[in-house]
Amino acid sequence: MALSEPAPHPAQERIRPTDSAGASDAAARAVALRAPLRPAVRVPVSAPAAPGTAELTGPVFGTADVGPLDHDLTRQHRGEPVGERIVVAGRVTDRRGRPVRGQLVELWQANAAGRYAHPLDRHPAPLDPHFTGAGRCLTGDDGRYRFVTIRPGAYPLGGSSDAWRAAHLHFSLFGTAFTQRLVTQMYFPGDPLLPDDLIRNAVGAPAARARLVSALDRTLGEPGRSLGYRWDIVLDGPAATWTEGDR
Ligand SMILES: [Fe+2]
Repeated sequence: MALSEPAPHPAQERIRPTDSAGASDAAARAVALRAPLRPAVRVPVSAPAAPGTAELTGPVFGTADVGPLDHDLTRQHRGEPVGERIVVAGRVTDRRGRPVRGQLVELWQANAAGRYAHPLDRHPAPLDPHFTGAGRCLTGDDGRYRFVTIRPGAYPLGGSSDAWRAAHLHFSLFGTAFTQRLVTQMYFPGDPLLPDDLIRNAVGAPAARARLVSALDRTLGEPGRSLGYRWDIVLDGPAATWTEGDR
């Protein structure tokens, strides 16, 4: 590695190809890590099986699948990441405003300098060895989720234009049905780059575009440490949160 190249990010190091001996060791470790921790679940099937039997009785994400610090992106490494600490929280509901409980909410983002800890990100901004930029949590009985993280930086789209992305967080939710699958992005209020963000501007309906912007909520932050942003997510219906791709 040339001296001018940045040190590898811990997240990149884990997926870097190695020599053949190293690869076999890594493969063995990967198999062990992916092995089920619990015995197989026997699914009761009557003959003929009613449609949906497996879906209704099969295993789903639960509290045992999400670690206690998975929601806190500032505590996933030995040191603290650089950047402004923020709390992002809100409710996940269906079209009738009913809370969607036990929902897996996944988040990923750039670091404070606008750089993703991903090999394909070529933005010449520094990586942060103390920030991977990925977290997850489960909604509570009231549909609420909560993340602790740092405010991401803006980054250029690259190419011939000088277009930049406004600061944003990526979210993914599976919902309780295929019609509720959601992959979306959250923005920050007052960001001067919002009017020029090509991805947000591609959302046709102004109301849907406005719903992607969170609201500053001083009750959500930790006093003396972080500001809070409230962002509610609606999985389906006319006021559904915008999703990437087709449903
Ligand atoms: Fe992004």
